[in-house]
Amino acid sequence: MIEGKRFYSEPGSGGVLFSLLRDFSVTGNNSSSAAVNATDPLSAMQPDISLSVREVFGIDSDFKVPAFSVADEHVPQLDEAYRFDPDVTLAILAGFTQNRRVLVQGYHGTGKSTHIEQIAARLNWPTVRVNLDGHITRLDLVGRDAIVLRDGQQVTEFKEGILPWSLQRPMALVFDEFDAGRPDVMFVIQRILEQDGKFTLLDQNKVLTPHKWFRLFATANTIGLGNLTGLYHGTQLLNQAQIDRWNIVARLDYLSAEAEADIVLSRVPALKANEKDMQIVAAMVKVAQMTRNGFAAGDVSTLMSPRTTISWAENYQIFSDLPTSFRLSFLNKCDEAEQSIIAEYYQRAFDQELPESIATLAVADDESGAEPAA
Ligand SMILES: Nc1ncnc2c1ncn2[C@@H]1O[C@H](COP(=O)(O)OP(=O)(O)OP(=O)(O)O)[C@@H](O)[C@H]1O
Ligand SMILES: [Mg+2]
Repeated sequence: MIEGKRFYSEPGSGGVLFSLLRDFSVTGNNSSSAAVNATDPLSAMQPDISLSVREVFGIDSDFKVPAFSVADEHVPQLDEAYRFDPDVTLAILAGFTQNRRVLVQGYHGTGKSTHIEQIAARLNWPTVRVNLDGHITRLDLVGRDAIVLRDGQQVTEFKEGILPWSLQRPMALVFDEFDAGRPDVMFVIQRILEQDGKFTLLDQNKVLTPHKWFRLFATANTIGLGNLTGLYHGTQLLNQAQIDRWNIVARLDYLSAEAEADIVLSRVPALKANEKDMQIVAAMVKVAQMTRNGFAAGDVSTLMSPRTTISWAENYQIFSDLPTSFRLSFLNKCDEAEQSIIAEYYQRAFDQELPESIATLAVADDESGAEPAA
Protein backbone atom coordinates (compact mmCIF):
# COMPACT_ATOMS: atom_id res chain seq x y z
CA MET A 1 0.00 0.00 0.00
CA ILE A 2 1.25 3.44 -0.83
CA GLU A 3 0.85 6.11 1.78
CA GLY A 4 0.37 9.82 1.61
CA LYS A 5 0.20 10.13 -2.15
CA ARG A 6 -1.70 12.78 -3.97
CA PHE A 7 -2.24 12.44 -7.63
CA TYR A 8 -3.20 15.03 -10.16
CA SER A 9 -4.07 14.73 -13.80
CA GLU A 10 -6.58 16.18 -16.14
CA PRO A 11 -10.24 15.63 -15.13
CA GLY A 12 -10.63 12.67 -12.83
CA SER A 13 -7.54 10.79 -11.82
CA GLY A 14 -6.55 7.12 -11.81
CA GLY A 15 -9.49 6.16 -14.04
CA VAL A 16 -8.45 8.67 -16.66
CA LEU A 17 -4.97 7.20 -16.75
CA PHE A 18 -6.39 3.77 -17.37
CA SER A 19 -8.45 5.08 -20.28
CA LEU A 20 -5.40 6.86 -21.68
CA LEU A 21 -3.57 3.58 -21.68
CA ARG A 22 -6.53 1.64 -23.06
CA ASP A 23 -6.51 3.38 -26.42
CA PHE A 24 -2.99 2.43 -27.31
CA SER A 25 -2.16 0.24 -30.28
CA VAL A 26 1.16 -0.13 -32.10
CA THR A 27 0.37 1.15 -35.57
CA GLY A 28 3.64 0.31 -37.25
CA ASN A 29 3.22 3.42 -39.35
CA ASN A 30 5.49 6.32 -38.62
CA SER A 31 4.74 8.29 -41.74
CA SER A 32 3.31 11.27 -39.90
CA SER A 33 6.33 11.69 -37.68
CA ALA A 34 9.14 14.18 -37.99
CA ALA A 35 11.59 14.02 -40.81
CA VAL A 36 13.79 10.98 -40.29
CA ASN A 37 17.47 11.72 -40.14
CA ALA A 38 18.91 9.33 -42.74
CA THR A 39 22.38 9.34 -41.18
CA ASP A 40 21.16 8.23 -37.76
CA PRO A 41 19.49 4.80 -37.51
CA LEU A 42 18.11 5.76 -34.09
CA SER A 43 15.79 8.33 -35.65
CA ALA A 44 14.20 5.57 -37.74
CA MET A 45 13.48 3.36 -34.73
CA GLN A 46 9.98 3.03 -33.37
CA PRO A 47 8.17 0.80 -30.89
CA ASP A 48 7.49 -2.55 -32.53
CA ILE A 49 6.10 -4.66 -29.69
CA SER A 50 3.59 -4.17 -26.91
CA LEU A 51 4.07 -5.35 -23.36
CA SER A 52 1.57 -6.31 -20.68
CA VAL A 53 1.53 -3.85 -17.76
CA ARG A 54 0.60 -6.73 -15.44
CA GLU A 55 3.53 -8.91 -16.45
CA VAL A 56 6.17 -6.24 -16.63
CA PHE A 57 5.21 -3.93 -13.75
CA GLY A 58 3.13 -6.24 -11.56
CA ILE A 59 0.17 -3.83 -11.66
CA ASP A 60 -3.31 -5.26 -11.77
CA SER A 61 -4.34 -4.05 -15.22
CA ASP A 62 -4.91 -5.58 -18.66
CA PHE A 63 -3.30 -2.76 -20.55
CA LYS A 64 -0.52 -3.04 -23.02
CA VAL A 65 2.20 -0.48 -23.61
CA PRO A 66 4.38 0.13 -26.67
CA ALA A 67 7.99 -0.95 -26.42
CA PHE A 68 11.07 -1.51 -28.51
CA SER A 69 12.27 -5.06 -29.17
CA VAL A 70 15.86 -3.88 -29.57
CA ALA A 71 17.73 -1.89 -26.93
CA ASP A 72 19.67 1.10 -28.23
CA GLU A 73 22.74 2.29 -26.31
CA HIS A 74 20.64 5.11 -24.77
CA VAL A 75 18.34 2.70 -22.94
CA PRO A 76 18.99 2.93 -19.17
CA GLN A 77 20.44 -0.07 -17.38
CA LEU A 78 17.83 -2.41 -15.94
CA ASP A 79 17.59 -2.65 -12.16
CA GLU A 80 15.80 -5.90 -11.37
CA ALA A 81 15.29 -4.92 -7.74
CA TYR A 82 13.31 -1.79 -8.53
CA ARG A 83 9.80 -1.66 -7.00
CA PHE A 84 7.15 0.28 -8.89
CA ASP A 85 4.64 2.59 -7.32
CA PRO A 86 1.38 1.73 -9.15
CA ASP A 87 -0.07 5.25 -9.51
CA VAL A 88 3.17 6.90 -10.56
CA THR A 89 3.90 4.01 -12.93
CA LEU A 90 0.53 4.48 -14.63
CA ALA A 91 1.16 8.22 -14.93
CA ILE A 92 4.56 7.67 -16.53
CA LEU A 93 3.17 4.95 -18.80
CA ALA A 94 0.47 7.39 -19.94
CA GLY A 95 3.36 9.68 -20.84
CA PHE A 96 5.02 7.01 -22.96
CA THR A 97 1.83 5.63 -24.47
CA GLN A 98 -0.26 8.71 -25.07
CA ASN A 99 2.42 11.35 -25.40
CA ARG A 100 1.47 13.15 -22.19
CA ARG A 101 4.01 15.48 -20.64
CA VAL A 102 4.58 14.08 -17.13
CA LEU A 103 6.12 15.88 -14.17
CA VAL A 104 6.99 13.74 -11.13
CA GLN A 105 7.32 15.70 -7.90
CA GLY A 106 8.22 14.61 -4.39
CA TYR A 107 10.69 14.70 -1.50
CA HIS A 108 14.34 13.82 -2.11
CA GLY A 109 15.38 10.21 -2.48
CA THR A 110 11.90 8.83 -3.06
CA GLY A 111 12.89 7.32 -6.42
CA LYS A 112 11.58 9.88 -8.92
CA SER A 113 14.49 9.89 -11.35
CA THR A 114 15.00 6.14 -11.15
CA HIS A 115 11.26 5.50 -11.60
CA ILE A 116 11.25 7.05 -15.06
CA GLU A 117 14.54 5.37 -15.95
CA GLN A 118 13.42 1.94 -14.81
CA ILE A 119 10.19 2.15 -16.80
CA ALA A 120 12.19 3.22 -19.87
CA ALA A 121 14.61 0.33 -19.23
CA ARG A 122 11.73 -2.15 -19.36
CA LEU A 123 10.27 -0.61 -22.52
CA ASN A 124 13.75 -0.39 -24.12
CA TRP A 125 12.95 3.28 -24.70
CA PRO A 126 16.05 5.38 -25.44
CA THR A 127 16.36 7.99 -22.69
CA VAL A 128 18.48 11.03 -21.99
CA ARG A 129 18.52 12.63 -18.58
CA VAL A 130 19.51 16.27 -18.30
CA ASN A 131 20.33 17.49 -14.82
CA LEU A 132 19.29 21.10 -14.71
CA ASP A 133 21.12 23.67 -12.69
CA GLY A 134 21.17 27.44 -12.49
CA HIS A 135 24.05 27.63 -14.97
CA ILE A 136 22.40 25.78 -17.84
CA THR A 137 21.79 28.30 -20.57
CA ARG A 138 19.56 28.48 -23.59
CA LEU A 139 22.59 27.78 -25.80
CA ASP A 140 23.35 24.57 -23.89
CA LEU A 141 19.85 23.31 -24.61
CA VAL A 142 19.31 24.63 -28.12
CA GLY A 143 22.80 24.55 -29.61
CA ARG A 144 25.46 26.98 -30.69
CA ASP A 145 27.89 27.77 -33.46
CA ALA A 146 31.17 25.95 -33.01
CA ILE A 147 34.42 26.03 -34.94
CA VAL A 148 35.21 22.63 -36.44
CA LEU A 149 37.95 21.32 -38.71
CA ARG A 150 36.78 20.18 -42.13
CA ASP A 151 39.32 19.13 -44.80
CA GLY A 152 42.00 20.94 -42.84
CA GLN A 153 39.92 24.14 -42.85
CA GLN A 154 38.40 25.77 -39.79
CA VAL A 155 34.70 26.31 -40.43
CA THR A 156 31.87 27.52 -38.26
CA GLU A 157 29.10 24.97 -37.89
CA PHE A 158 25.92 24.85 -35.85
CA LYS A 159 26.12 22.14 -33.17
CA GLU A 160 22.63 21.27 -32.10
CA GLY A 161 21.91 21.07 -28.39
CA ILE A 162 20.29 18.21 -26.51
CA LEU A 163 16.79 19.57 -27.11
CA PRO A 164 16.65 19.56 -30.94
CA TRP A 165 18.72 16.38 -30.96
CA SER A 166 16.25 14.48 -28.76
CA LEU A 167 13.23 16.04 -30.40
CA GLN A 168 14.07 14.38 -33.71
CA ARG A 169 14.47 10.94 -32.21
CA PRO A 170 12.31 8.37 -30.38
CA MET A 171 13.80 9.62 -27.15
CA ALA A 172 12.46 10.10 -23.65
CA LEU A 173 14.00 13.39 -22.54
CA VAL A 174 14.01 13.72 -18.75
CA PHE A 175 14.61 17.13 -17.23
CA ASP A 176 15.88 16.17 -13.80
CA GLU A 177 15.70 18.72 -10.98
CA PHE A 178 13.42 20.77 -13.20
CA ASP A 179 12.85 23.32 -10.46
CA ALA A 180 16.57 24.11 -10.33
CA GLY A 181 16.59 25.34 -13.93
CA ARG A 182 16.46 29.10 -14.41
CA PRO A 183 12.86 30.06 -15.20
CA ASP A 184 13.87 32.34 -18.09
CA VAL A 185 15.87 29.48 -19.64
CA MET A 186 13.03 27.02 -19.16
CA PHE A 187 10.89 29.11 -21.50
CA VAL A 188 12.83 27.34 -24.26
CA ILE A 189 10.64 24.29 -23.74
CA GLN A 190 7.37 26.21 -23.45
CA ARG A 191 6.22 25.32 -26.91
CA ILE A 192 7.22 21.65 -26.94
CA LEU A 193 5.28 21.19 -23.73
CA GLU A 194 2.19 21.63 -25.84
CA GLN A 195 1.14 18.49 -27.62
CA ASP A 196 2.60 18.36 -31.14
CA GLY A 197 4.29 21.64 -30.25
CA LYS A 198 6.87 22.40 -32.90
CA PHE A 199 10.25 23.82 -32.02
CA THR A 200 11.72 26.80 -33.82
CA LEU A 201 15.47 26.84 -34.22
CA LEU A 202 15.91 30.57 -34.62
CA ASP A 203 19.61 30.36 -35.41
CA GLN A 204 18.90 27.96 -38.26
CA ASN A 205 15.61 29.33 -39.58
CA LYS A 206 14.22 25.83 -39.07
CA VAL A 207 11.03 24.56 -37.52
CA LEU A 208 11.34 21.08 -36.06
CA THR A 209 8.35 18.79 -35.69
CA PRO A 210 8.88 16.39 -32.79
CA HIS A 211 9.45 12.76 -33.67
CA LYS A 212 6.28 10.75 -33.22
CA TRP A 213 7.87 8.83 -30.34
CA PHE A 214 9.67 11.70 -28.65
CA ARG A 215 8.57 11.96 -25.00
CA LEU A 216 9.17 14.59 -22.33
CA PHE A 217 9.35 14.06 -18.57
CA ALA A 218 10.60 16.06 -15.60
CA THR A 219 11.27 15.52 -11.92
CA ALA A 220 11.29 18.14 -9.19
CA ASN A 221 11.36 18.38 -5.41
CA THR A 222 9.08 21.40 -5.31
CA ILE A 223 6.09 22.20 -7.45
CA GLY A 224 7.59 25.48 -8.59
CA LEU A 225 6.15 27.51 -5.73
CA GLY A 226 9.49 27.88 -4.01
CA ASN A 227 11.36 26.25 -1.17
CA LEU A 228 8.48 26.30 1.30
CA THR A 229 9.85 23.59 3.61
CA GLY A 230 13.36 25.05 3.69
CA LEU A 231 14.73 21.70 2.46
CA TYR A 232 15.42 22.63 -1.15
CA HIS A 233 17.72 25.61 -1.40
CA GLY A 234 18.63 26.53 -4.95
CA THR A 235 15.21 25.75 -6.36
CA GLN A 236 13.37 28.39 -8.29
CA LEU A 237 9.91 29.81 -8.41
CA LEU A 238 8.61 28.50 -11.71
CA ASN A 239 6.35 30.24 -14.14
CA GLN A 240 2.82 28.98 -13.60
CA ALA A 241 2.01 29.10 -17.32
CA GLN A 242 4.73 26.50 -17.69
CA ILE A 243 3.55 24.30 -14.83
CA ASP A 244 0.12 24.55 -16.44
CA ARG A 245 1.46 22.94 -19.61
CA TRP A 246 2.44 19.67 -17.94
CA ASN A 247 -0.45 17.33 -18.72
CA ILE A 248 0.12 15.12 -15.69
CA VAL A 249 1.70 15.96 -12.35
CA ALA A 250 2.28 12.81 -10.29
CA ARG A 251 3.43 12.95 -6.73
CA LEU A 252 5.82 10.35 -5.37
CA ASP A 253 5.94 10.30 -1.60
CA TYR A 254 7.39 7.91 0.93
CA LEU A 255 6.28 4.31 0.71
CA SER A 256 4.68 2.26 3.44
CA ALA A 257 7.06 0.75 6.02
CA GLU A 258 6.74 -2.75 4.53
CA ALA A 259 7.44 -1.53 0.99
CA GLU A 260 10.43 0.51 2.13
CA ALA A 261 11.88 -2.42 4.09
CA ASP A 262 11.39 -4.57 1.00
CA ILE A 263 13.34 -2.09 -1.12
CA VAL A 264 16.16 -1.94 1.43
CA LEU A 265 16.35 -5.74 1.55
CA SER A 266 16.34 -5.96 -2.24
CA ARG A 267 19.25 -3.48 -2.29
CA VAL A 268 21.20 -5.27 0.46
CA PRO A 269 20.12 -8.91 0.06
CA ALA A 270 22.72 -10.16 2.59
CA LEU A 271 20.46 -8.76 5.34
CA LYS A 272 17.71 -11.18 4.31
CA ALA A 273 19.81 -14.10 5.55
CA ASN A 274 18.63 -14.06 9.16
CA GLU A 275 15.62 -12.92 11.14
CA LYS A 276 17.67 -10.58 13.36
CA ASP A 277 18.93 -8.54 10.41
CA MET A 278 15.44 -8.38 8.93
CA GLN A 279 14.20 -6.94 12.23
CA ILE A 280 17.06 -4.44 12.19
CA VAL A 281 15.98 -3.28 8.72
CA ALA A 282 12.38 -2.92 9.93
CA ALA A 283 13.64 -0.80 12.84
CA MET A 284 15.79 1.31 10.49
CA VAL A 285 12.67 2.11 8.47
CA LYS A 286 10.88 2.95 11.73
CA VAL A 287 13.60 5.50 12.58
CA ALA A 288 13.28 6.95 9.06
CA GLN A 289 9.53 7.28 9.49
CA MET A 290 9.92 8.94 12.89
CA THR A 291 12.24 11.56 11.38
CA ARG A 292 9.62 12.25 8.68
CA ASN A 293 6.84 12.60 11.24
CA GLY A 294 9.13 14.72 13.41
CA PHE A 295 9.86 16.93 10.41
CA ALA A 296 6.15 17.30 9.63
CA ALA A 297 5.53 18.27 13.26
CA GLY A 298 8.36 20.82 13.18
CA ASP A 299 10.51 18.95 15.76
CA VAL A 300 13.48 18.37 13.46
CA SER A 301 14.70 20.06 10.31
CA THR A 302 16.34 17.04 8.63
CA LEU A 303 14.57 13.92 7.51
CA MET A 304 15.73 10.53 6.43
CA SER A 305 14.98 9.68 2.79
CA PRO A 306 14.67 6.13 1.43
CA ARG A 307 18.06 6.78 -0.20
CA THR A 308 19.55 7.29 3.29
CA THR A 309 17.78 4.21 4.67
CA ILE A 310 19.38 2.17 1.88
CA SER A 311 22.80 3.66 2.51
CA TRP A 312 22.46 3.04 6.29
CA ALA A 313 21.77 -0.64 5.55
CA GLU A 314 24.76 -0.73 3.20
CA ASN A 315 27.00 0.98 5.78
CA TYR A 316 25.73 -1.39 8.48
CA GLN A 317 26.87 -4.27 6.31
CA ILE A 318 30.30 -2.66 5.93
CA PHE A 319 30.85 -1.69 9.60
CA SER A 320 28.76 -4.43 11.28
CA ASP A 321 27.95 -1.86 13.92
CA LEU A 322 24.54 -0.24 14.15
CA PRO A 323 25.30 2.99 16.07
CA THR A 324 28.41 3.69 13.95
CA SER A 325 26.60 3.09 10.69
CA PHE A 326 23.68 5.25 11.87
CA ARG A 327 26.00 8.08 12.85
CA LEU A 328 27.89 7.95 9.56
CA SER A 329 24.79 7.61 7.40
CA PHE A 330 22.43 10.08 9.01
CA LEU A 331 23.12 11.48 12.47
CA ASN A 332 26.19 13.45 11.36
CA LYS A 333 24.05 15.18 8.72
CA CYS A 334 21.79 16.61 11.43
CA ASP A 335 22.14 19.86 13.30
CA GLU A 336 23.93 19.28 16.63
CA ALA A 337 21.03 20.85 18.51
CA GLU A 338 18.68 18.21 17.08
CA GLN A 339 20.88 15.16 17.48
CA SER A 340 19.41 14.30 20.88
CA ILE A 341 15.90 14.16 19.38
CA ILE A 342 17.12 11.91 16.56
CA ALA A 343 18.93 9.73 19.13
CA GLU A 344 15.61 9.45 20.94
CA TYR A 345 13.98 8.10 17.73
CA TYR A 346 16.80 5.58 17.50
CA GLN A 347 16.28 4.57 21.13
CA ARG A 348 12.57 4.02 20.52
CA ALA A 349 13.17 1.81 17.49
CA PHE A 350 16.17 -0.19 18.81
CA ASP A 351 15.74 0.08 22.57
CA GLN A 352 19.34 1.23 22.81
CA GLU A 353 20.67 4.60 24.04
CA LEU A 354 23.15 6.54 21.94
CA PRO A 355 25.75 8.84 23.55
CA GLU A 356 23.96 11.73 21.81
CA SER A 357 20.63 11.11 23.58
CA ILE A 358 19.44 13.41 26.35
CA ALA A 359 19.29 10.52 28.83
CA THR A 360 22.96 9.64 28.29
CA LEU A 361 24.01 13.29 28.45
CA ALA A 362 22.12 13.69 31.72
CA VAL A 363 23.82 10.65 33.30
CA ALA A 364 27.25 11.94 32.22
CA ASP A 365 26.51 15.36 33.68
CA ASP A 366 25.28 13.74 36.87
CA GLU A 367 28.46 11.70 37.28
CA SER A 368 30.61 14.77 36.78
CA GLY A 369 28.61 16.57 39.45
CA ALA A 370 27.06 19.09 37.09
CA GLU A 371 23.38 20.01 36.97
CA PRO A 372 21.41 17.47 34.88
CA ALA A 373 20.34 18.69 31.43
CA ALA A 374 16.80 20.04 31.35
N1 LIG B 1 10.93 2.00 -5.42
C1 LIG B 1 12.23 1.80 -5.36
N2 LIG B 1 12.76 0.57 -5.62
C2 LIG B 1 14.08 0.39 -5.56
N3 LIG B 1 14.98 1.35 -5.26
C3 LIG B 1 14.52 2.57 -5.01
C4 LIG B 1 13.13 2.87 -5.05
N4 LIG B 1 12.94 4.16 -4.74
C5 LIG B 1 14.18 4.67 -4.53
N5 LIG B 1 15.12 3.71 -4.70
C6 LIG B 1 16.56 3.91 -4.60
O1 LIG B 1 16.76 5.09 -3.85
C7 LIG B 1 17.77 5.89 -4.44
C8 LIG B 1 17.23 7.27 -4.73
O2 LIG B 1 16.39 7.27 -5.87
P1 LIG B 1 16.31 8.51 -6.88
O3 LIG B 1 17.66 9.08 -7.13
O4 LIG B 1 15.51 8.09 -8.05
O5 LIG B 1 15.46 9.54 -6.00
P2 LIG B 1 14.89 10.95 -6.40
O6 LIG B 1 13.49 10.95 -5.95
O7 LIG B 1 15.15 11.24 -7.83
O8 LIG B 1 15.73 11.90 -5.45
P3 LIG B 1 16.14 13.44 -5.64
O9 LIG B 1 14.91 14.24 -5.41
O10 LIG B 1 17.15 13.64 -4.54
O11 LIG B 1 16.70 13.58 -7.02
C9 LIG B 1 18.25 5.15 -5.69
O12 LIG B 1 19.43 4.45 -5.36
C10 LIG B 1 17.13 4.19 -5.99
O13 LIG B 1 17.60 3.04 -6.62
MG1 LIG C 1 16.33 12.69 -8.75
